[in-house]
Amino acid sequence: MTHYYIWTIGCQMNDADSRRAAEELQRLGYLPTPRAEEADVVLLNTCVVRQKAEDKVYGRLSSLKPLKERRPEITLAVMGCLVAPETRRDLGRRFPYVDLWLPPSEVKGLVEFLGKRGEPVPFTYPVSAYVPVVTGCDQYCTYCIVRLRRGRERSRPMKEVLEEVRCLVERGVQEVTLVGQIVDSYGHDLPGQPTLADLLGEVHEVEGLWRIRFLTSHPNFMTDGLVEAVASLPKVCEHIELPVQAGDDRILKRMGRRYTVSQYRSLLAKIRGRIPGVSLATDVIVGFPGETEEEFKGTYRILEEERFDVVHVAAYSPRPATPAARLPDDLPPEEKERRRRALEKLQANIAEEINQALLGETLEILVEERRKGKWKGRTRTNKLVFFPDDNDWRGKLAPVQITWAGPWSMQGHLNAPTPPGG
Ligand code: SAM
Ligand code: F3S
Repeated sequence: MTHYYIWTIGCQMNDADSRRAAEELQRLGYLPTPRAEEADVVLLNTCVVRQKAEDKVYGRLSSLKPLKERRPEITLAVMGCLVAPETRRDLGRRFPYVDLWLPPSEVKGLVEFLGKRGEPVPFTYPVSAYVPVVTGCDQYCTYCIVRLRRGRERSRPMKEVLEEVRCLVERGVQEVTLVGQIVDSYGHDLPGQPTLADLLGEVHEVEGLWRIRFLTSHPNFMTDGLVEAVASLPKVCEHIELPVQAGDDRILKRMGRRYTVSQYRSLLAKIRGRIPGVSLATDVIVGFPGETEEEFKGTYRILEEERFDVVHVAAYSPRPATPAARLPDDLPPEEKERRRRALEKLQANIAEEINQALLGETLEILVEERRKGKWKGRTRTNKLVFFPDDNDWRGKLAPVQITWAGPWSMQGHLNAPTPPGG
């Protein structure tokens, strides 16, 4: 039997691409294995958003060298944001043992290279799946390499997205997350210019689908119509990922984000006013070139005052060929780390307080899998919940009463004796 192994880091788009690659490989007759050493095809799906991610990729690539030397017949393929026309030659020189370099999302190239191996192997679909709806990015965030590597924005026609969602639902998927670098700019490049709100309305009609999410949203594209769609469509979960990046207008300007702190905060107020119980996630960067203590405090303040459910904090990392890379990266690593830690600590306290307010409540959990003897699932607001039970709850909606709440997850017990229909 021939086996494949996929290693993925980075954003949800990469997760979606890896799922598509796995599906295709099984269609070609390959079996999955959790160990690279046992595989005949090894695919690394890479991310270079920060130097740390890029270094991890190099580490993984180097660690595979002995395997490829021992078994030269295996196929080693590298996909994702590491691979670009401008890096391709240098990569080939540094890692001559890689057989195939594929730009982001280029699953087709892998399929063509490998060809059919045997009878299709049935694919186990997840309970919750990512569906790419718009690829690339047309924004000019000055720190960001992703837009350079993933190219111009392209929306997938509504019909194509709907077909994929229907197909997934037929195969047991119950929740879809529509993904794009700027998912809320969906549609402007399509005939008739449908919006993300229109797409949500259509996806909502798919029978058998229980929940719909979307990410990541850019504040400048979050229209009233979209907020209204989230508020009024019952399957669309009340959770919005809306990166702010910084809490200071000068930094936002230098980042090329094209909104002010007060515009962002008005948007949050509008969302909260229209969608009761909404959970909000954001991304911030600390240590952008020239960020003063005062400017950093602006970011601290917005987290303190807006009380997000989740905050992804990143230390600024200069990226080749981005406009910000021409500015001096003048904050010492220790100072970036101090700022990052201060925000992490603040956010851990806030998230714990928010989650503890849910103690004693019974929440609807869509159960994804069993992990370490417990069932793992998510609330509509995207919070992780674990609970014990001997019945099979995978892919079911479980009413769970929350008994313990920490900043990153919650624990509870079932408020129903058996799964519906089980
Ligand atoms: N499209 C999304 C948006 O609206 O901003 C985010 C895309 S980006 C791939 C994911 C996150 O990585 C960003 O939100 C940002 O916080 C972080 N990031 C991007 N470039 C970075 C850099 N050079 N240094 C540190 N963090 C960075
Ligand atoms: Fe990057 Fe900004 Fe687009 S963070 S992916 S250029 S919205």
